[in-house]
Amino acid sequence: MLLHIPDILGAGQVAQFRARLDGADWADGRLTAGHQSAQAKRNGQLREDDPLARELGAVVADAVRRNPTFFAAALPAHIYPPLFNRYADGQSFGFHVDNAIRYDRTRQPALAVRTDLSATLFLAAPEDYDGGELVIEDSFGSHEVKLPAGHLVLYPGSSLHEVRPVTRGARVAAFFWIQSLVRDPGQRRLLFDLDVSIQSLTASGADAAALLALTGVYHNLLRRWAES
Ligand code: NI
Repeated sequence: MLLHIPDILGAGQVAQFRARLDGADWADGRLTAGHQSAQAKRNGQLREDDPLARELGAVVADAVRRNPTFFAAALPAHIYPPLFNRYADGQSFGFHVDNAIRYDRTRQPALAVRTDLSATLFLAAPEDYDGGELVIEDSFGSHEVKLPAGHLVLYPGSSLHEVRPVTRGARVAAFFWIQSLVRDPGQRRLLFDLDVSIQSLTASGADAAALLALTGVYHNLLRRWAES
């Protein structure tokens, strides 16, 4: 499932982020890539231990945890501390698969995070740069994603994906991975669809007893499928 979640950050927050990030100490993105992806990766990235990355990453992690759509779709067990990247001057990241496990070294001892889901939070307005589309391949074909600043795309960590060359301006984004309480994408999707239906029935004033029963089904499925 590919999900576009609007307004994770407001316009004011995006402007504050950019004021800090535009003067940041961008390192070569290949420093954090695995062997295969280092061949394909050309971009700038904040070091994982850069205090600015840690500070802004915590704001992003907090914002997604509080977003009901993100929470319902991802059912997060662990959120890898968000990282930041920047593409300009023709930079790109060719087709690759993200590592299955990332080690969160902000935790002692380091925590192994299984990358069930990947997320990109766009921090540049689409009209401010050319190219830079995130292209995601799944079983339904190829999807091009380029969202307004402050919006996020959530997609399967298992997918092949690339960032097309940025030929004008700069594409700035936060990216991170999520280990879900529900590992199986099909089960996670069913829970999300059920959750969305329950919310919409609640909003339309459906029968309270039927809603209660349906909510029970949701939680009992989650209890059956969740792992910690
Ligand atoms: Ni990737």
